[in-house]
Amino acid sequence: MADIHLPQHIAIIMDGNGRWAKQRFMPRIAGHRAGVEAARQVVKNCARRNIKVLSLFAFSSENWRRPAQEVSFLMELFLTGLEREVGMLHENNIQLRFIGDRSRFSEKLCEKIKEVEQLTQKNTGMTLIIAVDYGGQWDICQAARQLALEVEAGTLRSQEITPEKFASRLSFSDLPNPDLFIRTSGELRISNFMLWQLAYSELYFTDILWPDFDENELEKALKHYSSRERRYGYSSEQLKEAARHA
Ligand code: FPP
Repeated sequence: MADIHLPQHIAIIMDGNGRWAKQRFMPRIAGHRAGVEAARQVVKNCARRNIKVLSLFAFSSENWRRPAQEVSFLMELFLTGLEREVGMLHENNIQLRFIGDRSRFSEKLCEKIKEVEQLTQKNTGMTLIIAVDYGGQWDICQAARQLALEVEAGTLRSQEITPEKFASRLSFSDLPNPDLFIRTSGELRISNFMLWQLAYSELYFTDILWPDFDENELEKALKHYSSRERRYGYSSEQLKEAARHA
């Protein structure tokens, strides 16, 4: 791993907990428990490799449609997971941030989230973003709403709305966009995750189910990333030329 080119920001859709459990004749919740352990490992491994930002898609706006029992189990898992891991995160200088619409969370979970965010807010190591009740379309809508209000209030002219201005109202505006997007379990979809921010990300899909995504699998994804050439619309000739003059 010595000289591979590392992404600054990795965004992951952790998919396949249910299928992992089914393959073992276990209930879906056992898959989610194993998923939490895989998340714990990926956080540690990314922090150790000095990745600046890691975003984990833990619960989408659409996940509320799952059976009530599974939803409440997941909420409980987030709460107990936070209680258990906050010490480890803080000791490792990790800053934890939650993104998404919290209005449907229990008061207890909201309180815990606030507490952990406050505790870790001055940490200078990796930023860990947990996306819960998050949807990329929701994020784009809330940014558009903010800009519309500013236009209504007369503090912004519509001609001043540029991609940069728009991006500044999105949820991750102070962080670099993901360089590498990973989705496990063989699904080839972005599923409403960070729609705006993934515009130029390298996409990496693997058939591995999330609970099996270990250090070795992370390494494969990083190797894949380091072998890609990101062009941002330039031709490869232009990029070579720029590299010669760098
Ligand atoms: C995806 O598998 C998993 C979820 C939607 C649940 C949330 C993720 C975890 C519990 C991992 C831990 C994360 C944190 C940050 C605490 P699925 O249920 O969609 O699996 P399936 O597609 O095989 O049914």
